[in-house]
Amino acid sequence: MKILVIHGPNLNLLGVREPGVYGADTLETVDAAVRALAGDLGVAVEIVQSNHEGAILDAIHGARTQADGILINPGAFTHTSIALRDALAGVGRPAVEVHLSNVHAREPFRHHSFTAPVCVGAIAGFGKNSYLLGLRGLVEYIKSKKRDP
Ligand code: DQA
Repeated sequence: MKILVIHGPNLNLLGVREPGVYGADTLETVDAAVRALAGDLGVAVEIVQSNHEGAILDAIHGARTQADGILINPGAFTHTSIALRDALAGVGRPAVEVHLSNVHAREPFRHHSFTAPVCVGAIAGFGKNSYLLGLRGLVEYIKSKKRDP
C-alpha cells in the first residue's frame, strides 16, 4: 500500500511560523514521525510540500494511478479552494484531511472546509499527532475496503 502525504502552503515554515499556534515541530520532524509510523504499519509513503495550488492539484492527480490514498493538510487552501475539493473528489482515492491546530477553535473563516466533505475523515488539533492519527485511520480504511469492497 502506498500513501501520498501532501503538505500545503506555509507548512515549510513549521517551527518558525507562529509557534504558539503550530508548536515547535518542524516539517522534518513531522515527516520523520510519519515515515516511522508508515514503517510500523508496513506502508510506503511519498511526502510532498508545495506553496502552489497547481502543484498540489498535480500531486493529487498523480495519486490516481500511483497511490492508494491521500493524507493531506491543505493549509489555508482548505478554506478557499474549490479546485482542491474537485481534484480530491475526482481522483477516486480515499483522502484524510489533517490540521495541526484545532481550526474549529480559531477564527470563523477557518471553520469552513471545502475539502473535508470529499474526504473519508478529518482530524484537527493534535499537532504532529494529527498526521499520525490520520495515517492510521486512512490505512485502516483502505484495508477494510480491500476486505469488504
Ligand atoms: C492549518 C490550519 C489552516 O487554517 C492554516 O491556514 C494553515 C495550517 C493547520 O495545520 O492547523 O496553514 O492547516
